[in-house]
Amino acid sequence: MTDWSFFPHLNATLNGLSAVFLVAGFYFIKTGQKERHRLSMISAVTVSAVFLVSYVTSKAIIGLDSVKFTAEGPIRWIYFLILGTHTILAIVITPFVLVTFWRALKGRFEMHKKLARLVFPVWLYVSITGVMVYLLLYQLFPPS
Ligand code: HEM
Repeated sequence: MTDWSFFPHLNATLNGLSAVFLVAGFYFIKTGQKERHRLSMISAVTVSAVFLVSYVTSKAIIGLDSVKFTAEGPIRWIYFLILGTHTILAIVITPFVLVTFWRALKGRFEMHKKLARLVFPVWLYVSITGVMVYLLLYQLFPPS
């Protein structure tokens, strides 16, 4: 039997990488480094696309309810709050990320900028909370 237990680690790494590229891309555009902004954002979108494929593949192989969060107390509420907001915002923001990206690729930078101001913080939140969910579920409170 193949051991698929690497998937959560891989997925969390991809989420973390996406956050790093987003922060770098933001820093680059705010310091006028447009080419580096372009490369960082293309990297963020690419890593997120790979994450999506990996995530769907892992769910198809391992199953939808493979690992349960078993810790009790306030941390349980915090976990589900993070997981819930992460999941909803990830679904909502994806089409907006694509539109923001498309506008930039087409050179419509004024419109790109307007949407990017909204998309950027939400996308960063989704990437960071993805890593937090992983840390809580697999590293800090692993099921016994
Ligand atoms: C979905 C991916 C992207 C996101 C989330 C994003 C995000 C941002 C953000 C937050 C800003 C600054 C807005 C502000 O000034 O407050 C910005 C500006 C800019 N972005 Fe992107 N960006 C992305 C992709 C790209 C790509 C691929 C390119 C190049 C083809 C690009 C080119 C630019 C340029 C030229 C500006 C400056 C626009 C101006 O000041 O007139 N961006 N972007």
